Amino acid sequence: MRYLAAGLAFLALTLSTMANANQPVRVLADRTESLLKPLFETFTKMTGIPVEAVYMDKGLIDRVAGNPTEADVLITKDAELMEIARAKGLLQPHNSDLIRREIDKRFQGPGASYFVDAYRARLIFYAKARVKPEELSTYADLASPRWKEKLCIRSGYHDYNIALFSQMSVAYGPEKTRAIIQGLHDNLAREPKGNDREQAKMIHAGKCDLALMNVYYHPLMMDNPEQRPWAEGIGVFYPDQRQGGAFIMRSAVGLTKASRNVAAATQLMEFLAGKDGQNIMTHLTYQFPTNPGVLASPKIATLGAEQPGIRDGKFKVNFVDLNTAVKEREAVVKMLNEVQFDKR
Ligand SMILES: [Fe+2]
Repeated sequence: MRYLAAGLAFLALTLSTMANANQPVRVLADRTESLLKPLFETFTKMTGIPVEAVYMDKGLIDRVAGNPTEADVLITKDAELMEIARAKGLLQPHNSDLIRREIDKRFQGPGASYFVDAYRARLIFYAKARVKPEELSTYADLASPRWKEKLCIRSGYHDYNIALFSQMSVAYGPEKTRAIIQGLHDNLAREPKGNDREQAKMIHAGKCDLALMNVYYHPLMMDNPEQRPWAEGIGVFYPDQRQGGAFIMRSAVGLTKASRNVAAATQLMEFLAGKDGQNIMTHLTYQFPTNPGVLASPKIATLGAEQPGIRDGKFKVNFVDLNTAVKEREAVVKMLNEVQFDKR
């Protein structure tokens, strides 16, 4: 009887797995649709499992918290948000040896609840005609009075800048970070507005000489006939290479606590962590892969080559744990409010 019960339980389990096999994996993502779609299409071709994705720009955490069963997999351009989701109990550990084996240890989320699938550095973009790379050194130097009215940056409150300043607060301490935020604000050439690319457009237009931007925007603009002239006159500088290193932004992939299709969700996550997915990702989004067996796209690996110490896209990273960075967010928002960062 016991065997029969066990046999039936096994059969039921097998049937439920089979029933789920071609159930779509439901994804909630705050990353660009055009950059994720090709990954999902390849995954579906390889496995037969459809992907149903909802794309949004802001409010990922609130959406999952409000409707936890909506998605099996979360994908975010800002891994701090994934860390917040984990801390809120909205994720569950994946059970994948492949992910543990393929992804660099530093990019595994605590308790295997998510992993970082890609990263990019937030760097200094400079007008090649007006600034020499030898004049540049650190993030802190960008805040020095010699760059008065030379700096363009998007809103200080955008996730990218909050992530950058939060990491500074961990790495440099809050006092130095406050001084840098104040100094950056004092050096603004215009009100912080627009997206990252708009800052490059402003450099091209001669409105500013320097901007803080994510590295992948350089090749993305080079690929775009209208934006190519903005990028052509711009050099990319990795700050703090003689100090702690440049700060990175991370993207992340996590398994929701309420997933109803864990097996297929795990398959999608494994695809994104494995060589096929990582190769597509780096050639499509120009981010750095977190799978050490995959080479970064040459279009990012060649950037910064005129700077001593930068070879083949290898640079020194100031690696700040996401769970410590997340704790600085509130304090950083306060600092931004104090200097009224978005007003000039
Ligand atoms: Fe971006």
